[in-house]
Amino acid sequence: MKRKVIFDCDPGHDDAIALLMAFASTRLDILAVTVTGGNQTLAKTLNNAKRVLSFAGVECLIAAGCDKPLFRELEVAPEVHGDSGLDGPVLPESNLPVDDRHAVEVMRDLLDQATEPITLVATGPLTNVGLLLSTYPHVKSKIDLIAIMGGSVVGGNWTPGAEFNIMVDPEAAHIVFHSGIHIAMAGLDVTHRAMVTKQDTERIRSLNKKVPVMVAELLDFFALFHHTMGFDATPLHDPVTIAYLIDPSIITTKEYYVDIDVDGEFTLGATVADQLGSMNQPANTTVMLDIDREKFVDMIVDLVNTYE
Ligand code: BDR
Ligand code: CA
Repeated sequence: MKRKVIFDCDPGHDDAIALLMAFASTRLDILAVTVTGGNQTLAKTLNNAKRVLSFAGVECLIAAGCDKPLFRELEVAPEVHGDSGLDGPVLPESNLPVDDRHAVEVMRDLLDQATEPITLVATGPLTNVGLLLSTYPHVKSKIDLIAIMGGSVVGGNWTPGAEFNIMVDPEAAHIVFHSGIHIAMAGLDVTHRAMVTKQDTERIRSLNKKVPVMVAELLDFFALFHHTMGFDATPLHDPVTIAYLIDPSIITTKEYYVDIDVDGEFTLGATVADQLGSMNQPANTTVMLDIDREKFVDMIVDLVNTYE
């Protein structure tokens, strides 16, 4: 049976590849794509989601969510994703329809109607998911798992202690980690091992079809920023959430209690994993720590190869 998924994202190069993987997988049934501001403004991330899905010939319920974090101003990442949020490939404008409802209302309605559990995937700031859980807490019983890209046990990529998605909206992350719903966390610990090399990109390009070539062009642009940061390959963050749902056997995990720092002077937005067990809290998070890189790349190649 396919796992039912609502996919919340802020495309973003790695979000775009994660979306393409999710729609190509025979194991996942994507009920909706909901969009948040994050890597770029909401107008741009929504436009990017539409353009990627159109280009790939995917039709899906799409809804726009929050244009800024719950209590803060939006911080975007043009140095990573370019001015459009998806610089690199030339993607035509899309006329895919966007639902009239706010993304949070779409999520609530899908959850209310659901007869089997739904998994939330979130690959951007957790604003939409946090707003959903705080506004409509009754839907929690319908959610079996929240699989996120965000955080880390050790170190950050936006500040010394925090990863971008959590740093942008720490209060939303705090709501999610305190929701009582189990979380699967693809943080930097694993995503900095989910490396895609230049050779991998050429393997994808050599599939010589429209969508794989576009994916290679996304990877070309995404690699530029990472090269300036001293990486010799590109950490492909967001697709790790999808890889985990498709084949968790390729990912090494540990169960931890994880909390979010919402007021630290140096650690705002840090995901604090209680590795010692000294906080005496039950584990709320499956923390991903390592991945079989070769199998991860094979999975990406196989999934993008299902498109024209
Ligand atoms: C996360 O931040 C964004 O730039 C990426 O899309 C990913 O979700 C990595 O820190
Ligand atoms: Ca993202």
